[in-house]
Amino acid sequence: MSLRDDFLAEIEVFLKATGMSATRFGREAVADPRLVFDLRSKGRAPSARLMDQVARFMAERGGTAVPAPAGVGGKGVLLVIGGGIAAYKSLDLIRRLSERGAAVTAVMTDAAQEFVTPLSVGALTASRVFTGLFDRDDEHDVGHIRLARAADVIVVAPATADLLAKMAGGHADDLATAILLAAGAPVLVAPAMNPKMWAHPATRRNVEALRRDGIHFVGPNAGEMAEAGEAGIGRMAEPHEILATAQRLLSPATRLLAGRHVIVTSGPTREPIDPVRYLANRSSGRQGHAIAAAAAAAGARVTLVSGPVALADPPMVTVVHVETARDMLAAVEAALPADVAVMAAAVADWRVAETAAAKIKKGGGAPPTLALSENPDILATIARRKASRPALVVGFAAETDDLIHNARDKLKAKGADWILANDVSAGSGVMGGEENTVHLISRDGVEDWPRLPKTEVAERLVGRIARALAPSGK
Ligand code: CTP
Repeated sequence: MSLRDDFLAEIEVFLKATGMSATRFGREAVADPRLVFDLRSKGRAPSARLMDQVARFMAERGGTAVPAPAGVGGKGVLLVIGGGIAAYKSLDLIRRLSERGAAVTAVMTDAAQEFVTPLSVGALTASRVFTGLFDRDDEHDVGHIRLARAADVIVVAPATADLLAKMAGGHADDLATAILLAAGAPVLVAPAMNPKMWAHPATRRNVEALRRDGIHFVGPNAGEMAEAGEAGIGRMAEPHEILATAQRLLSPATRLLAGRHVIVTSGPTREPIDPVRYLANRSSGRQGHAIAAAAAAAGARVTLVSGPVALADPPMVTVVHVETARDMLAAVEAALPADVAVMAAAVADWRVAETAAAKIKKGGGAPPTLALSENPDILATIARRKASRPALVVGFAAETDDLIHNARDKLKAKGADWILANDVSAGSGVMGGEENTVHLISRDGVEDWPRLPKTEVAERLVGRIARALAPSGK
């Protein structure tokens, strides 16, 4: 969709007149739609299309990644309050949502009512609070199915260990769980519990299952617990964080890559030596998985071709699990055509020329010599394809020295459109770590990005990809 010139001109006049940067404008406009709404037409609520235009404007001009999230104004938020001490924070969440124009409907579990009263919740939502599955009035007037269907997003805060277990098991024995089982809208949960409960294998299993079901999570955070002397991971995310995540789920920015197919490779490859041994590397797959998740969150159809990693499959992504470089190449080729290919895997450059059929024994003699042969270069193979080459082919360059120079060489040698260069030298903590410092290298030059969590690198990259694929993009 191209931006209307008059709309851009209007924004530009506004930016000049106020001295506001495009980035700040975008952030404020989407946080408070009234900014655009006042600018545009007095008295009319901003349409989704208008907000979409702002999002695209941001992606094209701001240089930041995914534009800041749109407001929740006019959206129906169904808030399920679970029974935890953090339930008091849900009152602040309701206030923040309501202030931004969301219509909040609250459902409280029995346990939640031990912590906050329906009266105080109802005073803040300015509407009836739903508590019982078998409440005749509730069912007569609304019904849990309709409650579930009317929401644009369902937020569960606090989500107790018990509530997560029920959700994971598909229980529906009270109003909250029945709604969650009937939900059509995205579901965002904000877990809150004692760190031991969060770390318990049962909770881990439930969280894993819920993630696979496409449930979104925010938090929990690390910090002090309500119980004296207890600290660790388990504190509910702060209301502003929950709000921001809910906004992101509702945001028009989530459609930045709608209709696009993105292939991502991730993780190491494993090259067998014999039936029990292999050659591999330290790649965790975090960066590639984060890119797949961010592209899916931006509305793309995503095929993630992953080597062996200890990460859960990201939600809403088709994952093809492979072991070797040759299998990875075959899986990528099978997934074509695509608009974008992001090769984030740390592919083993060599494989053992002849894999032994049986375990190689020590046998008392000299250690065996492994003859190696070179693996296919997946990035170069895809970038050089004549038929169905993706419009944008992005590679990574993992370097320990002369980063930019080597990365530039890789851009040319492999025929990629962009290379994200990262320093993986021993002290950098990048390989296997949570953060990354990358430089985006294209034929146009080098863009230095600050040190960011890998999830944010992913979001930024998705923003840049959307910008490049836009009709006026480069
Ligand atoms: N790559 C690939 N297939 C290979 C090797 C690398 O697709 N057989 C891709 C990686 O996914 C990455 C880019 O190529 O996007 C660069 O990977 P890197 O390991 O930095 O470079 P190499 O080509 O392996 O070169 P070297 O190890 O000599 O630095």
